[in-house]
Amino acid sequence: MTTGSLNHFLSIDDFSYAELRGMLNQATALKARLKDGDRPQLLKDKVLAMIFERQSTRTRVSFDVGMRQLGGQTLMLSGQEMQLSREETLADTAKVMSRYVDAIMIRILSHADLLELAEAATVPVINGLTRRAHPCQIMADLMTFEEHRGDIRGAKIAWVGDSNNVLHSWVNAAELFECELTIAVPDEYSPEKDLMQDITRAGKYAKLIEDPREAVEGADLVITDTWVSMGDVDAAERRRVLKPYQVNTNLMSLANKDALFMHCLPAHRGDEVTDEVIDGPQSVVFDEAENRLHAQKAVLCWAFGVETN
Ligand code: CP
Ligand code: NVA
Repeated sequence: MTTGSLNHFLSIDDFSYAELRGMLNQATALKARLKDGDRPQLLKDKVLAMIFERQSTRTRVSFDVGMRQLGGQTLMLSGQEMQLSREETLADTAKVMSRYVDAIMIRILSHADLLELAEAATVPVINGLTRRAHPCQIMADLMTFEEHRGDIRGAKIAWVGDSNNVLHSWVNAAELFECELTIAVPDEYSPEKDLMQDITRAGKYAKLIEDPREAVEGADLVITDTWVSMGDVDAAERRRVLKPYQVNTNLMSLANKDALFMHCLPAHRGDEVTDEVIDGPQSVVFDEAENRLHAQKAVLCWAFGVETN
């Protein structure tokens, strides 16, 4: 989303297909350059502040390393240690931090809080996960699919399990990349209003059903995620209701023979996915994790308005 002259990266549906394709191309180029030992100092002396209100392994490490590889620096901040936890507003925090740093990446559950921060900031803001969306993850996922199988447009994708932030960003991506996304979730955890609206808007590119077997039938890509996202409270009940949605070898056998399996991680082995699937030959979960680094470097360059070629 470009607010005035600011390049915020908040949600996949803030972008056009061409803009995201441009970033994915940059990500691929930066990955290739890194493999050749070339670390272009495109963000030399830029400082990215990272605020984490919740836990993270991949997001924090990949943004940190990505900035360093591009010549920049990072500040790792925990919401708990900031005055945010003593009720300083997001808007005031954004205004103050904008005086010190060149960009802000934040993981915060409330999407409304993210928008409040972005509205008040005078530097680019990047969404590192909210309860509504996880756009950086989906950039890595798109990149990973295309590395293995080529152009994702027209691909048949099955989402199986909970309806959450990662699904929401996938729905937005399916619409832009014209994929055939079939979403199998139990009635008890059907999409919230906001996600439902985006599924409806996606039209023929996203279909909501209940039966996981029907969703996976003939799929090119099968995706799941944890049954208990950050902020969820009813863990035991979720595990009970979502049990039939486990991605195991039986379910995977209904997909195309060369179907890929994705999971943003962290995985809860034995719940949403079995060891056999996540460690099996169709799984590309660690490529996804690696590509967080490359995709986010492209997002950072876009946010800073830096050409990578
Ligand atoms: N996939 C993902 O965002 O992982 P982390 O929670 O470890 O950052
Ligand atoms: N849906 C998960 C993703 C974690 C990266 C969560 O929000 O906890």
